[in-house]
Amino acid sequence: MQTELFDTAKRADYTFKYNTKLGRHGWLRLTPAYSVKLVEEIIKTDCKKGDVILDPFSGTATTGLVASEMGFSSVLYEINPFLIWLGNIKCRNYYVMELESLQKQFNQCLENIVVSGGFWLPPIHNIERWWHSDTLIILASIRNRLVETFGEPEGTHYHNLVWVAFSRLIIETSSAAFNHISMSFKEDTVQYGFTQIKSLLQTIFSNILLSARTQLSGNAKVIYTDSKIMEINKKECFDTVITSPPYPNRISYIRELRPYMYWVKFLKNGSDAGALDWETIGGTWGVATSNLKSWMPTNINLPAQLYEVCDKISRCEDKNAETMSKYVHKYFDNIYFHLLNMSVLLKCKAKVNYIVGNSSFYGHFVETQDIIAECMKQIGYTIIAINTIRRRNTKKGLLEYNIRACFNH
Ligand SMILES: C[S@@+](CC[C@H](N)C(=O)[O-])C[C@H]1O[C@@H](n2cnc3c(N)ncnc32)[C@H](O)[C@@H]1O
Repeated sequence: MQTELFDTAKRADYTFKYNTKLGRHGWLRLTPAYSVKLVEEIIKTDCKKGDVILDPFSGTATTGLVASEMGFSSVLYEINPFLIWLGNIKCRNYYVMELESLQKQFNQCLENIVVSGGFWLPPIHNIERWWHSDTLIILASIRNRLVETFGEPEGTHYHNLVWVAFSRLIIETSSAAFNHISMSFKEDTVQYGFTQIKSLLQTIFSNILLSARTQLSGNAKVIYTDSKIMEINKKECFDTVITSPPYPNRISYIRELRPYMYWVKFLKNGSDAGALDWETIGGTWGVATSNLKSWMPTNINLPAQLYEVCDKISRCEDKNAETMSKYVHKYFDNIYFHLLNMSVLLKCKAKVNYIVGNSSFYGHFVETQDIIAECMKQIGYTIIAINTIRRRNTKKGLLEYNIRACFNH
C-alpha cells in the first residue's frame, strides 16, 4: 500500500477549530467536523467545473458549504435529523431583505421577555450539571418567547437562523468543555444574569446574520439517508466523493449533540438517542453498546487485518474486551456495505476521498485507513494513495489520513 507521509505535526488548520473563525462554518461546533482548508484543497485538486460532489456523512455540512462557496453543486447524506436541519440552513442563500426583517422581529421579541420559572425545559438527564438553575430559568424563558414569535425550529425558512443562534447560546452558557477529542464538563456551572445572556444572544445572532449575507454561488442539499444502504438515491450520479465518516473511536455524535438536540426538540428521550446511535456507523451511546452483544456480521470476507486486530482486542483482560472487539468488527462491516452501495452512485473514474483516523483499543492499533483501503480494493476501487494529514492528539500513533481512490465501472 502506498502511504505518503506529509507533515504529521498537530496541524490546527486541519481541525474544526480553524473553522470557527470562518463565517457560516463557525455557527455551531461538532468536535469531529473536519477542516474547511482540507476540503478546499481536495476540491481544487479533484474537481473541474460542473462536477457534482457527494458527502455521504454530512455532519455539519462542511463539504456542502465549501463546495457551494467554490461554485459547485453537492449532495450530502446524513442520518441525524438535527444535522440535516442545520446543514440545510447553513447552505442556503438569504435575501438581504429577509435578514433585515428578521433582525427587527428579533429585536422586538427580545424586548418582551418575561423571565419566570415553569417554562418547558428539555428532558436532559442531570440537567443542572450543564446549566446553573438560574441560567436554566432564563434560557427556558427566552426559548418560550422565541417559540411564540417564530415557531419551533423546523424546515429551512429564514426564521430558523434564530434557532441556530439559540443553539449556540445554550452551549456558550453551559459547562460543556471542548478542549478534548470529545466533549467533557467543566467543574462548575456559571450563574448568568438575564442582561448578560440577552447581550450574548444579540452578539451571536448579529454574527450569524452577518455571515448569512454572504452569497453562495453553488448549491448544496442535505438529505436524510442511511449511508449504509442509500437505495432511495440510486438515480444520483457523482463525480467526486469528499467525506469524513465516523471513525471506530467510540465518539458518539448523539452524545456530542445532545444539548442542541434536546433544546430544539430533535431528541425526546434517552431511548431515542440510543436507537439513533445504533443506526449510525460507529455509534456507541446507550442501547447501541448493549445491542452489540447479539450483533452478527453480515460479511464474512472482510480484510484479514481486521480479524487479526479484533481477535487481539477480544483476548484483552477487560470485562468489555469482547464488546469492544465486536464494536470494531461492526464498524467495518457497516463501512464495507456503505462503500459497496455507494459505488453504484459514482460516475466512471469518480475520485473518492475518505478522511479517517486510526484508533487504539487496549494498546492494539486499529489501522482504519489500511482496512478501509483493503475493503475498497475488494469492491473494485483503485487506491491512489493514503496521505497522512496530521497527528490527532498527544496520544502517540493516532493520525488522520486521506484515503484517495478512484472508481472505474
Ligand atoms: C465525522 S462526522 C462528519 C463531520 C463532517 N465532515 C463535518 O465537517 O461536520 C460523521 C457523520 O456521519 C453521520 N453518520 C453516521 N452514520 C451514518 C449513516 N449510517 N448514514 C448517514 N450518516 C451517518 C454522523 O451522524 C456524523 O454526522
